[in-house]
Formats: sequence, structure tokens, C-alpha cells
Amino acid sequence: MMAKKKRILILNGPNLNLLGKRQPEIYGRLTLEEIGREIRSLAKQLSVTVEIRQSNNEGELVDWIQQAPAQFGAIVINPAAYTHSSVAMRDAIIAAGIPAIEIHISNIYKREAFRKHSYIAGVAVGQITGFGVQSYLLGLRAAVECL
Ligand code: DQA
Repeated sequence: MMAKKKRILILNGPNLNLLGKRQPEIYGRLTLEEIGREIRSLAKQLSVTVEIRQSNNEGELVDWIQQAPAQFGAIVINPAAYTHSSVAMRDAIIAAGIPAIEIHISNIYKREAFRKHSYIAGVAVGQITGFGVQSYLLGLRAAVECL
């Protein structure tokens, strides 16, 4: 089995299951599955394994973050709307104690005022925002650098 350090968990928050049909002018036309294919192809090049999950449920995301250190060396997370509301996810990232990279497809600083605040940013290694699907790929590269 591959060492857990070489495994990266990619987490997606609420409504990201709708990518491709949800506000394509903001989030693009790729589905989460298509983005997943690009992520897996980069992961292969970088010699790491990725597991990609999505949930619309805050508690499930918290559970996955809590469990991550047993299997993964780092987390790339698009917390979606929970970015702007979830103290629970922030606390889970602190408790997990492995590097987390926050990513967003859109540039959260160019949009509504309520999106400018992230509960996650202060506990992430860093934040990548506004590069579309590339945000995931840049996030994966950043995570690999943190292993
Ligand atoms: C998002 C930005 C969030 O503000 C929004 O709630 C999302 C997606 C992004 O990837 O651009 O659902 O995280």
C-alpha cells in the first residue's frame, strides 16, 4: 500500500455536485467528475494518490476531516458555501493537524461581500482562489509540496 503521506484527500463542499450546470458563467462547464479526471491525471504525474469526495452535509465533511490523518498526508479543500460559515470545519482542520490547502473555483474577493470572509483561510497553509479548474490542480501541487 502506498504510504499515507503520498495520499491526498480532495474535499468538496455543498452544491459542487452540480458543477457543469450550476452558474457556468461563474463556475465553468466542467462537471466534478471531469475535474476529477484532470486531478487524477496530474496526481499520476506527481506520483501521488488522490481520493476525491463531495458532500452537501457539514457533519460528513467534519467527519472526513477528522479521519483524514489516519490515511492522508494533506487535504485540498473547496469548502464551497461552508467557507463563509463553518467554525466546525475550521476546528476540524486544526484538530486533524495535517496541511490543508483551501481552494475556490471563482475569485471569492471579486464577488459579494459575504464571500470575502473565510473561516478556513486562517487555518489553511494557504488559499488559491479564482483559477477555475486550475485552482484544484494548483492546490494539488501545493499539497504535494507540503508532504
Ligand atoms: C466556491 C465559492 C463559494 O463562495 C461558493 O459558495 C461555492 C463555490 C468556489 O469554488 O468558487 O459554492 O467555493
